[in-house]
Amino acid sequence: MKKTLVLKVNPRKPEKKKIRVAAEIIKNGGLVAFPTETVYGLGADALNPKAVLALFKAKKRPLDNPPIVHISDVKEVYRLVEEVPPKAEKLMENFWPGPLTLIFRRSKIVPDVTVAGLDTIAIRMPKHNVALALIRESGCPIAAPSANLAGRPSPTTAQHVLEDLEGRIDAVLDAGPTKIGVESTVLDLAADPPQVLRPGGIPLEKLRKFLGEVEFHPIAIADKEVSVEKVRSPGVRHKHYAPNAEVIVVEGEVSGIVEKVKELVKYYEEKSVKVGVLATDETAGCYRADVVKSLGSRKNLKVVAKNLFKLLREFDKEGVDVIVAEGIPLKGLGVAVMNRLRKASGYKIVKANA
Ligand code: TXA
Ligand code: MG
Repeated sequence: MKKTLVLKVNPRKPEKKKIRVAAEIIKNGGLVAFPTETVYGLGADALNPKAVLALFKAKKRPLDNPPIVHISDVKEVYRLVEEVPPKAEKLMENFWPGPLTLIFRRSKIVPDVTVAGLDTIAIRMPKHNVALALIRESGCPIAAPSANLAGRPSPTTAQHVLEDLEGRIDAVLDAGPTKIGVESTVLDLAADPPQVLRPGGIPLEKLRKFLGEVEFHPIAIADKEVSVEKVRSPGVRHKHYAPNAEVIVVEGEVSGIVEKVKELVKYYEEKSVKVGVLATDETAGCYRADVVKSLGSRKNLKVVAKNLFKLLREFDKEGVDVIVAEGIPLKGLGVAVMNRLRKASGYKIVKANA
C-alpha cells in the first residue's frame, strides 16, 4: 500500500503548485488520477512502458484492453500516429477539446504496452482545465483509462476514485464532480462509413450532422435479449461498469416498464432479496421497494447520464442485492447510458410489453 495524495484543485483555474506536484509524479513514472469533462481518468506517461504497466496493475485491468491517450495540443497527434486522415483533421478541429476519441494508426514511438500490441491508438483531448494543465506540465501524452478498478462503474468524483484505488495510486487531483458523467465516444475512421465503437459524450446525431454517414458498430449497442426465466436464475456475470449488486434492465414503453419493474420487485421481495429500483422522475413515485433512486427526468438525458455511475455506486452503499433499472430512450446521450446499463447487467435485459 502506498499513501495516495489528495490534491484539491480549482476546476477552472487549477493552482500551479498543485499541478506541478502531480506532473512531477507523472514524469517520474507514477500514477495520478485527474478529472476530465467525462469521468476521472488514471494517468501515466504514455511513452513510459513501465509507468503504463503499473497503470494496468493498479486498475487490475487486463493487458489486452488499451487505454486512451490524452493530449493537450493537436500537434502532439502527429508524433503519435502514422497518418492523420482529412476527416480526422476536421473532427479534431470541431470536437476537440471534447468527449470524442479517435482511432489512428500508431507511430513507432508509442510503446507496445500502451496500445496493447495493436497497430492503432486511441487519442483524445479532454475539455477540462485541470486535465489540460496536467498534460502540459507533464510534457508528455498521458495514457488514462477511467480511474476505477476494472469492471466497476467509472468514477465521476475523486471519492469514487479513492473507493477503488486508495493506496494503489500516487495521487488524485480532486476538482469536484465531472460534467458529462459517461465516457467519450470512440470513433473508428478506418471503417467505411466510420463506426462508433463506444457511444459516449458526443451523440451519434452530432457526428452524423458533421460527417454524413456514421454507424454504430454492433458492440456499441450491447443489446442481447434474455427471457425473464433466465434472468431469474443466476447467470454468467459480464464484468463491466458493474456495481456489486446484480443489475437487471427493463426496456420498452414507459407504462410497460413500470408494470414489469413492479413484478420483478415483488418477485425478489418474496424471496427476501434486498431490491433497489433505478427509476426516473416520471416513474419513481410508482414503486415500493427497499431503495428507489431517480436518474432524473426522461426528458433531460444530460442529467440522466451525469447521475448514472454515481447512483450505481450508491446502491452498493445501501447494500442492495439486486438493482432493477428502467431502460431510457435510445437517442442522444441515452444510447451511451443504455450501453453502460446493459453491460452492467451482463446483458440481463427484460423486454416489457406496452
Ligand atoms: O471519457 C473517456 O474516454 C475516459 C476519460 C478518462 O478520458 N477514458 C476512458 O478510458 O474511458 P477507458 O480506458 O476506460 O476506455 C477506453 C476505451 C476502451 O473501450 C478501449 O477498448 C478503447 O477505448 N480503445 C482503446 N484503444 C483502442 C484502439 N486502438 N482501438 C479500438 N478501441 C480502443
Ligand atoms: Mg473504463
